[in-house]
Amino acid sequence: MDVISVIRTKRDKGELSPEQIDWVIDAYTRGVVADEQMSALAMAILLNGMNRDEIARWTAAMIASGERMNFDALSRPTADKHSTGGVGDKITLPLAPLVAACGAAVPQLSGRGLGHTGGTLDKLESIPGWRALLSNEEMLHVLDTTGAVICAAGDGLAPADKKLYALRDVTGTVEAIPLIASSIMSKKIAEGTGSLVLDVKVGTGAFMKTIEDARELASTMVALGTDSGVKTVALLTDMSTPLGLTAGNALEVRESVEVLAGGGPRDVVDLTVALAAEMLAAAGIKDADPAKALKDGSAMDVWRRMIAAQGGDPDAALPVAREQHVVTAPSSGVLTRLDAYDIGIAAWRLGAGRARKEDPVQAGAGVELHAKPGDTVTAGQPLLTLHTDTPEKFDYALGSLEGAWDIAPAGTPFTATPIVLDR
Ligand code: URA
Repeated sequence: MDVISVIRTKRDKGELSPEQIDWVIDAYTRGVVADEQMSALAMAILLNGMNRDEIARWTAAMIASGERMNFDALSRPTADKHSTGGVGDKITLPLAPLVAACGAAVPQLSGRGLGHTGGTLDKLESIPGWRALLSNEEMLHVLDTTGAVICAAGDGLAPADKKLYALRDVTGTVEAIPLIASSIMSKKIAEGTGSLVLDVKVGTGAFMKTIEDARELASTMVALGTDSGVKTVALLTDMSTPLGLTAGNALEVRESVEVLAGGGPRDVVDLTVALAAEMLAAAGIKDADPAKALKDGSAMDVWRRMIAAQGGDPDAALPVAREQHVVTAPSSGVLTRLDAYDIGIAAWRLGAGRARKEDPVQAGAGVELHAKPGDTVTAGQPLLTLHTDTPEKFDYALGSLEGAWDIAPAGTPFTATPIVLDR
């Protein structure tokens, strides 16, 4: 087997054989295939695609590159959720303790933000003392004792994906349905969850910009999960505007705690409850009422135990950025659009995200929204507050906000996009 013939096969729009796929994933993980060769192959896959058989084999090869976890010893059924990534997407934070409060065990192996989309671990690390890195034993212990754990995937889980994802990020090859589907599902299947709910984001702030592409990604992932014995469901959800009223690490933790306290923005609450209902159904738990568990404090109790079990202080004050800049509405009327991608880039430029994976993030940086599409605004009222420790970044962030919203004359009819677009 040689890598050049594998690259040529895909470059010439051919089908990769199972042997080619097994070999190239294994050889890349071992360092026998070089990064430049794998990037050529990733670009050929992005341009020419893979069929379902190739994707299934590619996923299996990435799973086989590392260890598989097993939750069979737990007394509760496991339920997991994965989002394809968006702006202000803090849903995992209230969702994991909520679903645990309703009776499932929720192992959430999460990632860090890269580019304009935030990462769950970066958000939680703004809580003083909280640790993302747990050994497998610690992870199982937190899961068993609190019902939920949110932590980094260990180095042993799908190492081929770790290498390939970092490479795709710097070679313009992230947005390929076969590569996204195999990347997400290899980690989820290797993790050993019994059921999985996928939140496939659609819109400017998502990797999938159209409903057709999102549907294709969702059905590919559902087929991969189902064929591996994981009960898998996908929701297509809107990411044309940021979720909730915050984008940025500590800002999003604060909003998540509001949701766990029974308040918080409507879209965050609705999506959290919709995903919780799907996770509980997939795990075979009947008669649970996730909306009630948010209101009666039982989800908050699990959150506090889960944060404390990972060294965090749930009562500690969250970091606040040193400087704020208010952006005001330039005219009066109805806010009809507030672009998720532009807000995500602004939050990232303010310091909430990183340009290279080794960069630190600012816990307090980000964007706070004072209005959402459908709201009436008055000229001069605050529309956004930008937060950062490095005020020299304000101009850079403001640059990404040019054209980020539309304000129509008062009285213009506005039809809200539902948060859940399809199942
Ligand atoms: N999340 C992943 O884990 N992998 C991708 O390729 C995209 C989003």
